Order: sequence, then structure tokens, then C-alpha cells
Amino acid sequence: MSSLQQRKILLGVTGGIAAYKAAEFLRLMQKAGAEVRVVMTPSAREFVQPLTFQALSGHRVYTDIFDGAADSAMDHIELARWCDLLVVAPASADFIGKLRAGYADNLLLTLCLASKQPVAVAPAMNQQMYANPATADNIAGLQRNGVFVWGPDAGEQACGDVGPGRMLEPEHLLRQVVELFAPGSLSGRRLLLTAGPTREPIDPVRYISNRSSGKMGYAIAEAAQRAGAEVCLVSGPVALPPPAGVQLVAVESASEMYDAVMTRAAAQDIFIACAAVSDYRVRDAAEHKIKKNAESLTLELVRNRDILAAASALADRPFCVGFAAETRDVEEYARDKLERKQLDMIAANRVGNGSGFEADVNQLDVLWADGGARIEQASKAEVARRLIDLVAERYTRALSTTEDSNER
Ligand code: CTP
Repeated sequence: MSSLQQRKILLGVTGGIAAYKAAEFLRLMQKAGAEVRVVMTPSAREFVQPLTFQALSGHRVYTDIFDGAADSAMDHIELARWCDLLVVAPASADFIGKLRAGYADNLLLTLCLASKQPVAVAPAMNQQMYANPATADNIAGLQRNGVFVWGPDAGEQACGDVGPGRMLEPEHLLRQVVELFAPGSLSGRRLLLTAGPTREPIDPVRYISNRSSGKMGYAIAEAAQRAGAEVCLVSGPVALPPPAGVQLVAVESASEMYDAVMTRAAAQDIFIACAAVSDYRVRDAAEHKIKKNAESLTLELVRNRDILAAASALADRPFCVGFAAETRDVEEYARDKLERKQLDMIAANRVGNGSGFEADVNQLDVLWADGGARIEQASKAEVARRLIDLVAERYTRALSTTEDSNER
């Protein structure tokens, strides 16, 4: 495999028992064609000798901030500029915490701060440390800042504990690196996506909403980003960090979501409407908190505009994909929506039976004018990957049909 040909990778090694596995990871990346240089933190040197990495990489191993003068050809800023990717494996809890907080008290942290290139970390720590809310917070924070977090794996640990916290195996890490560089099926395409619920205000403290968790939409955003698309995610309020590398536009109400989509839709190649948009809003939301003076209260609701239908009706419309959540007659209702909203594709799911809203798994019937495909029940991440494959395939086909008819 030479899929990493001409790639320059800076491998950061921090202190942990998994540090010895970094040697194998280095070897695998080199075998795939990459040029790898190694930076170690002071505590990593307690586990593995720099000489090991020096012998394997064929380059000196960088360890101190202040030893740049010894190799003036490459000081720390140059090193940060030199690489196409900075991957830290293993990344200890301590390193993750410091990186999250923006510390720069060792060379590796300094490089992470100074690099414009993608940074990835492969966490490796005791399961209890991984489960600690401080670690969870730090990892979520890194993801929000666009750092790729690969792993960890679950299983037996060096300390005898069992649980999540093991570093991903070197082969698995190599796959992540290869995938990061691979030109994906949506490479160079611009993709707009809505996700999550909307909140329709009743008064300044109350709202009408629904049970959408946003998990499916966020998984699609991540899959599309990994497939090479430039992704803009217009999201209602959810408790999820946006996937690394995705532009997030946070909105609350359906009308804010409508505006966010309509100002961007015409410039997009693909639009996927995954949000559970409230169909109605309160006609006159109260300016001040409503007091419980009356025995009963009537709210008048008015229909919200259909964002997907509006994007699809644009003269310069993107390839439009809708969602349909049904409890019965899934295909019939979904086909009706496909036609009514003039969509290119619709992904229909049967809600209930542990699938769909708030669940971690999903299954989809994906339909288009003259065909369809089923995505069997799987994790939302897996379903998202398969959906993106289908979208890429149908989109490319639609594009070549348009080009053919333009040539005629
Ligand atoms: N949608 C939208 N804007 C709205 C309502 C829905 O963009 N105001 C999008 C959703 O994101 C989804 C699809 O349209 O992609 C769902 O269509 P919809 O007709 O709302 O489905 P249901 O709510 O299931 O409709 P119905 O009550 O007709 O079954």
C-alpha cells in the first residue's frame, strides 16, 4: 500500500504504556509511503528510548523546546509547518487536558498550538481516568476545536482493569490516517445539512420542541466530511459536539433555520434536510413570561415554512435529500414526500422499535424517482456512512445526466 506517498507526518508520543506501540504505528505509516518524524514528551522518554524512534524513522527525535539550535534546519515552528498531519499516539489524559487548555510547556504541545495542519489524538489511559468527567470534557472540547479523536478501544488494560481507554491498534490508526488523506467520494463538494430539533418560543422561557437528539444528522455531517465534502451544519439545539472540520451554524427556531439555509442553499452542491423541524410555531410569542393567572390557556399555532421544499424550489437548486419519519406505510408516505417536495432522494425510517428518535441505531429505506435501496439496522455512524455512499453515487449520476443533456 502506498496511499500515504509524499505525506509528511509528525508523530507525537506521550507518556503511557502504549508508547511502545507507537513504534509499530510509525513503521506502518512509513510502509504506506509517509515520511515520519517523531516528537516525544519528557514522560514518553520514561517508557521508550528516543533511539528506538530515531533508528526506525531515520531522523533525530525531537524532545525539547530549546534544542532547536542543535538542528537549525528545523526549529519548532518549521517542524509545525513541515507536516501535513500531526498525530499524537498515545495521547495521555494529561496531554489531552493540556492541549485542551492551550498549554505549551513542552515541545509537542507547542507544535500542536503552532500547527495549521490537522491534529489527531489517539487517547490511551486507564478506564477510570477515561470515564472521569474532566477527561470527557477535555475530549469533547478538543473535538469542538476541530481535533480528530481516534479511539480509544475497549478491553483489558495493562493495569488489569477492563473497559474503554486502550489505544487503538496501530493497524486501526493507520486506517484512520489513510482515510483522512483519501480523496473521498464527495471530494470538493459543498454540502449543507440541517440537524436536530427546533425550538418554537411560547414566551422568553418556554418553547415547543420535539425529541430529536441530532445524532443522525451529526453522524451524516461527519460521514460527509470524511468523504471529502466541505460541510456546513445548520443545527437546532442539541447536546453534541460538532464533528471535526465541520462548519456549525447554531440556530433555535424553524424560521432561523429557514434563513440560515436559504442564504446558503444556492451555493451548495448537496442539501440534506435531517432536522426535525417543528411544523408549527406560536402565532404571537409573549414578550414577557406568561403568568398562570387564567385557569386555561390557548396557544394559537401557525404553520412554519417548509425549508426543504423551499430549497428544492430554488432556480439554482442543490441536489436535495429529505428525511421522512413514519410509523406506518413507510414507502408510500415517503414517495409522496419525494414527489411533493420535488426531491432527488428521500431517506425514510420507521420510528419505534428502538430505532429512530433518541436511539443509537437506525435503519433507512432510501428512495429516488426510479429506484431505492435499504440500509439495514446498524449504528447511526454506520448508517450515515452508507447513506453518504448512496448520496454520492446518485449525485454523481445526476450530474453526468445533466452534463449529457447540456451537450446534446
Ligand atoms: N422539513 C423542512 N422544513 C419543515 C418541515 C420539514 O425542511 N418546515 C424537512 C425535514 O427536515 C425532513 C422532511 O422535510 O427532511 C420531512 O418532511 P415532513 O413533511 O415534515 O415530514 P413529516 O413531519 O413526517 O410530515 P407529515 O406530518 O406530513 O408526515
